[in-house]
Amino acid sequence: MSADTKPDPIAQMEKIVSLCKRRGFIYQSSEIYGGCGGVWDYGPLGAELKRNLRDAWWKAMTRDREDVVGLDACILMNPAIWKASGHVDTFADLMRECSLTNKRVRADHVEPQAGVIMNYTGAESPTGWKLDRVLSVLIKKGEHIESFRKRVRLLIASNAGDSAGKPEEIVLLNETKSDEVTASVDFHPETGGALGAARPFNLMLKTYLGPTATEADVTYLRPETAQAIFAQFKNVLDSSRVKVPFGICQIGKAFRNEVTPKNFTFRSREFEQMELEFFIKPDEAVEIISGEVAAWSEGADLTEPQPNWGWQMWHRYWVDQRTKFYQSIGLGDVLEYYWQTPEDLAHYARACVDILCEFPFGTEELEGIAARGAFDLTAHQNASTKSQEVFDEDLKNAAAKLTPEQKEALIQKRLAAEQAKVKGEPMPEAEVRAWFERLFKGNYVPHVIEPSAGLDRMALAIIAKAFDETVKTDDKGKSETITVLRFHPRVAPIKCGVFPLLKNKPELVAKAREVYALLKTHMNCFYDETASIGRRYARQDEAGTPFGVTIDFDTLGEKGPELLNTVTVRERDSNAQHRIPISELLGWLQARL
Ligand code: GAP
Repeated sequence: MSADTKPDPIAQMEKIVSLCKRRGFIYQSSEIYGGCGGVWDYGPLGAELKRNLRDAWWKAMTRDREDVVGLDACILMNPAIWKASGHVDTFADLMRECSLTNKRVRADHVEPQAGVIMNYTGAESPTGWKLDRVLSVLIKKGEHIESFRKRVRLLIASNAGDSAGKPEEIVLLNETKSDEVTASVDFHPETGGALGAARPFNLMLKTYLGPTATEADVTYLRPETAQAIFAQFKNVLDSSRVKVPFGICQIGKAFRNEVTPKNFTFRSREFEQMELEFFIKPDEAVEIISGEVAAWSEGADLTEPQPNWGWQMWHRYWVDQRTKFYQSIGLGDVLEYYWQTPEDLAHYARACVDILCEFPFGTEELEGIAARGAFDLTAHQNASTKSQEVFDEDLKNAAAKLTPEQKEALIQKRLAAEQAKVKGEPMPEAEVRAWFERLFKGNYVPHVIEPSAGLDRMALAIIAKAFDETVKTDDKGKSETITVLRFHPRVAPIKCGVFPLLKNKPELVAKAREVYALLKTHMNCFYDETASIGRRYARQDEAGTPFGVTIDFDTLGEKGPELLNTVTVRERDSNAQHRIPISELLGWLQARL
């Protein structure tokens, strides 16, 4: 930000939303029909930005590595997957319902309210309509009692529909005043109506497969891309030359019926995820093969994975890799980390760190990196009755060299760890022993580290970080607000603007077209010949274009042969200008992208 003080977050978001629409980054879905809650479309610049982020992630996660392969699975899957994964039973938000309007709100999103509680034994109207239940509504400080009653009548009428007749004719019965509250979370933040008890609300979007649309045909739009990776784990293992430790990554749409989609695209109902499931050996297998499991300590070398790494080192390694990725796209300096406490963690998870990013509305989650043990593959193994185990020759050979005492020591260590669990039931001894029996023969279900990022959140973080507004005042005292999107060149939707100095000089236009043709097969460029050169620079600054190339009379050799076929390249952020031969232009730009 250019300003010394932090801008007002609401005003800042409004400016960002408005710029996104004006410049074709993000539009409200179905806008001509009044919109569609929590769903957003990406315009020409937004589509390019998203594609650049998607490509950067895919390259970093799979193309640049030898130990990760890709997957492109369908959104629709057998609903048994969602039962096995726990989503059918537990993928829910706790909701509370307003007693006045039946409007729901997420239990953990209720802002504390202050006011005096007004109670009614019910309501009725001359149409014969009756509401036969106690109503408690908060009257806010400064709200006039008559406007309050009018507001309550309107809310009741809009909820009751035509049967209640005219709102002004509704009679509120037996009004009494009770306590004054100062910070209560028991009233709906918009209506003031008392909230009911918290109840779970499943976030998966249901649909039907096939023409009969009966309960037997119900399936779900996937709420995460991860489960397809687990469901296809064996196929990938059997059809590619991968060996644990290795990963499978996927980018794709996910859907959640979010109760309160908010903060622009931050919490949407349709969004895109970029997930990696990185499969590793259980620590016991590492210990048997390598004789030890590397312990993590501050400053540990995470550059090259090692054979003695257990889940902890692998988890730290992925946090480090993902941090480096964010640095490479210009978000390095706005990241924070939240390490979930044992109380926060799911019972099967060993650790989870949320990578947080500074948005105008607060510091919020961008990505989660979880060490999930063998929970997911084991759940699918149990539900599908198809083995998800791998066979590890090295493990079998190393285990064969252990003495019975060494084997028993490993079992005892695990039993002690089971007893020390903070959450969930310890695994019974018989099961632990059966698990070791398979392990000593070289068989195990791999454990997993899961870095899970949201593409839309990443795009929003990039736009919010890049947004820079300054007010410039000229010599005559005339002020103008200048907006620049300071995207990292790697993710910028347009890499380079190409401008002939004047549009009515055919020689300049022809040369500029030549330069444009030279560049555009290598990068997304924009040709612009309208308005003054300053205006054209400003337009590209607002779109976040890092470089602008101007073709002028010097390019045509009018000032002498030494400048013939050279162009001026202007850098968006420094305003620096460089004179570069056209023959070197592509290489100059590519070195900076
Ligand atoms: N498989 C793990 C998983 O799905 P999550 O924390 O629920 O974990 C991972 O989601 C990431 O997906 C989040 O960090 C966020 O970036 C993105 N995400 C989740 N819900 C979202 C929503 N409603 N709108 C936009 N992005 C969302």
